Amino acid sequence: RVLRGRPRDLAGRKVVVSAGGTREAIDPVRYIGNRSTGLQGYALARTAVARGAEVTLVAANVALPDPAGARVVRVESTAELRAAVLEAAGSADVVVMAAAVADFRPATRRDEKIKKTDGEPDPIYVTKNPDILAELGERRRQAAAVAGHSVVGSGDGASRGAGPGSGAELGPGDGALTGGIPGDGVLAGEVPGSGGVGGRVGPRVIVGFAAETHDVLANGRAKLERKGCDLLVVNKVGEGLAFGTPDNAATVLVAGGDPVEVPLGPKEDLADTVWDLVAARLS
Ligand code: CTP
Ligand code: CA
Repeated sequence: RVLRGRPRDLAGRKVVVSAGGTREAIDPVRYIGNRSTGLQGYALARTAVARGAEVTLVAANVALPDPAGARVVRVESTAELRAAVLEAAGSADVVVMAAAVADFRPATRRDEKIKKTDGEPDPIYVTKNPDILAELGERRRQAAAVAGHSVVGSGDGASRGAGPGSGAELGPGDGALTGGIPGDGVLAGEVPGSGGVGGRVGPRVIVGFAAETHDVLANGRAKLERKGCDLLVVNKVGEGLAFGTPDNAATVLVAGGDPVEVPLGPKEDLADTVWDLVAARLS
């Protein structure tokens, strides 16, 4: 499929796209994973390149060739995906989280292959992974607060760590201050380049994807708000829809705007609709 006739409306913009699905090791040979193939994320990366963007593609376990013109970072686990996305997000204008991120990982990773025995196997306990998309939204909100922009929300997760790209690691749900005095308005880790009002406050546009099997729109709207993103692409999964197919149908929920319906068609068409909406928010 030849990509042509596209506006160069993302020229000079840095975008980060995550694609594929993360895997969480149970033992050296087994993992918890999902059915994502990375097709939608790769379509987003290709179309963004075609529209002039500088693209970083963070690919989790994708068996597809690297899209021409994109910088590709290959990762396996959610921890690796998170590190790569936050690093790249530090200087990005747009982040699109198209990856299917494992919600849970085994609480412990066995160093040796689990052997079959005569008895029943031990249960595998799981623990929650950090929510990367929510973290991006929260970091932006915090950075905006530091830069003196208006803050939305209640400040529950206040000053929970360093800015994107600082390399700091935070566990999920650790709401602790790592520096600064509560209420003094200082983030423990400054966002690189946040020079006060008008400075960088994180990606200007954050896009999430939502895989829903039921109550698709209601769940999607709640997710958009919970994660603090600007756009949320909601598609119905299961029954042969979306995963591993070249086509997709979706509703794009827009913060502060009307939803946009994208009829069943090539994943590139959905990608272009996303970039149309992103470009409109950037200009
Ligand atoms: N996501 C993320 N980190 C996670 C889980 C999800 O960044 N640990 C991102 C996905 O990349 C996607 C969006 O959040 O862009 C929504 O993912 P989804 O699985 O639909 O939402 P969850 O919040 O995990 O809710 P649930 O699976 O319970 O519906
Ligand atoms: Ca999930």
